[in-house]
Amino acid sequence: MSLLKRIFGICETKPPIEPEAWWYTDDRVVLDLKKLPELSEPGNAIRLEGKKLPERILLLFDADGKFHAFRNCCAHMGRRIDPVAGTRNIRCCSVFQSTYDYSGSPISGAAKSPIKTYPVEAENGKLIISLNSSIGF
Ligand code: FES
Repeated sequence: MSLLKRIFGICETKPPIEPEAWWYTDDRVVLDLKKLPELSEPGNAIRLEGKKLPERILLLFDADGKFHAFRNCCAHMGRRIDPVAGTRNIRCCSVFQSTYDYSGSPISGAAKSPIKTYPVEAENGKLIISLNSSIGF
């Protein structure tokens, strides 16, 4: 990522190509995997924003075959987070590059507190992220 992008806090992760691929209802985000080809390859991620979501979400598909969801808001100054290729870490897109493990704990950078993680369940071709039951923090 370029320094200019870091200065302006521009992340690499994109929203879903198909806007109707996900919706928010009853404190849950529901995603239709058939409409999310960008999550077909391990290491890929999407960011979910808008649609009256109470907070931004980063959803990534890991090489372990599992999906992981995070509050997409760095604990330092609130910038967005991207996956770090080839690792099990996520990193803030800002200059200070706070880095977190998959539990949401900070492991380097300016952030001293964790970010929320959320359980993700797979069910009949859908993913469900429960926002009312964060894991750990
Ligand atoms: S906002 Fe993330 S390190 Fe500063």
